[in-house]
Amino acid sequence: MKILGICCSPRKGQSSFKALERCLVAAGKVDGSIETEIIELAGLAVAPCNACGFCKNTLDCPINDDFNKLIPTLADADIAGMIVATPVYFGSMTAQCKAFIDRCVMFRRNSWLFRDRIGGVVAVGGVRNGGQELTLDAVRAALLCHDMICVSDGKPTAHFGAALQNTPDKGGVEADSVGMETAENLGRRVAEVAMRLRNAD
Ligand SMILES: Cc1cc2nc3c(=O)[nH]c(=O)nc-3n(C[C@H](O)[C@H](O)[C@H](O)COP(=O)(O)O)c2cc1C
Repeated sequence: MKILGICCSPRKGQSSFKALERCLVAAGKVDGSIETEIIELAGLAVAPCNACGFCKNTLDCPINDDFNKLIPTLADADIAGMIVATPVYFGSMTAQCKAFIDRCVMFRRNSWLFRDRIGGVVAVGGVRNGGQELTLDAVRAALLCHDMICVSDGKPTAHFGAALQNTPDKGGVEADSVGMETAENLGRRVAEVAMRLRNAD
């Protein structure tokens, strides 16, 4: 069983990646059979959806960019959970995140391939109340459109996902112990629910 993380920062290996990594480490500890993987959109060209309709009956897109290379990874039937991490940009997700989400419409159109995957969201802002919750909400809405099962960050924090603050002059995202706890709890919760659902099959 696999849990896939998608990091939607335009910056490789930065705070959203670190939070997502923490999430997936916690997920992996839930059971020895859980594999984790991160797709980083940084450095990839993923253009917005043109709404051409080409993907209505095929898992393919005529836009010639890096998204098509991600299709086999995203379609893998072994994926039981997906965690999307994004920086907060003007109170919402990055443009990279939105373009990625819109291009994923092909998975809904072709047999609902994300259906029943457990979904979690990570949002990292530069300030404490910079729109993390709005961002979690916006990304979660997209996951729900795939008929995914979205979870909170699990007890004891159990709110809307992982919400973190990245303050480079004060130790960065790693120094946000409260936020990092939500990241760990989210990863664990996604893995726990994914395991339960798989075992119930
Ligand atoms: C265009 C832009 C808009 C931003 N808007 C917000 C914002 O609305 N709220 C916030 O808390 N931080 C905002 N930030 C700060 C980023 O969310 C923050 O630096 C984040 O840690 C970046 O994630 P990364 O390190 O994974 O790239 C913004 C940064 C940029 C570049």
